Amino acid sequence: MPPDSIPMTAGQQRGRRSWAEPWKIKMVEPIHMTTREFRQKAIAEAGYNTFLLRSEDVYIDLLTDSGTNAMSDRQWAGLMLGDEAYAGSRNFYHLEEAVRQHYGYRHLVPTHQGRGAEHILSQIRIKPGDYVPGNMYFTTTRLHQELAGGTFVDVIIAEAHDPANLHPFKGNVDLDKLQDLIEKVGAEKIPYVSLAGTVNMAGGQPVSMANVRALRELTDRYGIPIYLDATRMVENCYFIQQREPGYAGKPVAEILREFCAYTDGCWMSAKKDALVNIGGWLAMNDQELFDEARNMVVVYEGLHTYGGLAGRDLEAMAIGIEESTRDDHIRSRVGQVEYLGQMLLDWGIPIVQPVGGHAIFLDARKIYEHIPQDQFPAQALTADLYVDSGVRGMERGIVSAGRDPATGDHRYPKLELVRLAFPRRVYTQAHIDVVAESVQAVYENRAQARGLRMGYEPKHLRFFQARFEPLPE
Ligand code: F0G
Repeated sequence: MPPDSIPMTAGQQRGRRSWAEPWKIKMVEPIHMTTREFRQKAIAEAGYNTFLLRSEDVYIDLLTDSGTNAMSDRQWAGLMLGDEAYAGSRNFYHLEEAVRQHYGYRHLVPTHQGRGAEHILSQIRIKPGDYVPGNMYFTTTRLHQELAGGTFVDVIIAEAHDPANLHPFKGNVDLDKLQDLIEKVGAEKIPYVSLAGTVNMAGGQPVSMANVRALRELTDRYGIPIYLDATRMVENCYFIQQREPGYAGKPVAEILREFCAYTDGCWMSAKKDALVNIGGWLAMNDQELFDEARNMVVVYEGLHTYGGLAGRDLEAMAIGIEESTRDDHIRSRVGQVEYLGQMLLDWGIPIVQPVGGHAIFLDARKIYEHIPQDQFPAQALTADLYVDSGVRGMERGIVSAGRDPATGDHRYPKLELVRLAFPRRVYTQAHIDVVAESVQAVYENRAQARGLRMGYEPKHLRFFQARFEPLPE
């Protein structure tokens, strides 16, 4: 160790050798810092909703890890190989091969993004009056299940609703809760289990291999299929490798195949794990379901060999899938998230623990404990962070949870969070240091924070477009 007078790297301070990203930068996109006055005006004009800001007015954009990834030189080269034939594009066959090889499902239906696949699966599987159990809701997933006439039932383990609980697999399904639901409503009313890895709304928390294995055994007894939201399943598999006994030496790509083999199919937002800017798919083993999905995709997305995408997008996805499952990539991707998480924890700032795969989630309920939940503490914290430094995050609390369709009241989720999501291969450690310092500054000012009132509230997925105003002092 160097003597005290010489500054130490973060790695040395933790008594370890540092790792670095398995890439170097070939092209850059300038970003710039604005003034505090500018940002105060910008967020007011955006109705205190970071979705309504212009991206040019953002310094470090952690709104989402969706479609914000940097593609590799191989992916950019792949764009030039786009076969833009209406039918039978060679890029479709390359993508089909990549999905078969890495996820293991037989049949592939491309869609323009994840919700296109959610729409098709929900429409062909769910009948009015059905129940869809899942390990915590996701906004678009649940909405499509509801629009198809289903009722989503949360069967995630209780630990997932507690930001401070250190359970290593907080995405796990509570099999007793699922069994109770099956006994209550009957297996014939459950078209499938909606299983997500990792669980976005719980903080990017993984599902263990032991849990999916046990889930398979339980559902097999009742003939209920399992469909997987594979959007961040590679990240989930990294956590299995790191945390689950028996998986320490296994490549993530192998763990992914094993996990998927316990499920009947998946839907995918390729804008996350698969390292592209647009794209998604639905994949399954069942021939009959495939025939239905392939028929449905031509109504809503496009022919079954392009599904609303250009041939070049299919090619970028096929290459991205392969890159995303490499151990060195996934380790540095999750490692960057962990780097910010560790810093905030060292400073005593409340965040969801353990740190998840794609984002840091600030515990707004704790940080702004003086603001009641119906005054939108996480929305307010997101706006305050933007004003402090131009860092853009997203509310994941009462606004995102929306209203109960039966009663029309707000749903009051236990988790009231601000998500700082990391685009893949985009920001450096210096950017992350800036984010950490800004979170700390806002945290130190927390006593001054005020709640919000919702002015405009759209009917569907209100968090995207709702407008707010500060409550008077
Ligand atoms: N499932 C999960 C777990 C997601 O996180 C998303 C999108 C979708 C499905 C829908 O996919 O956007 O391609 O239509 N999540 C983004 C986010 C929007 O910011 O977390 P999509």
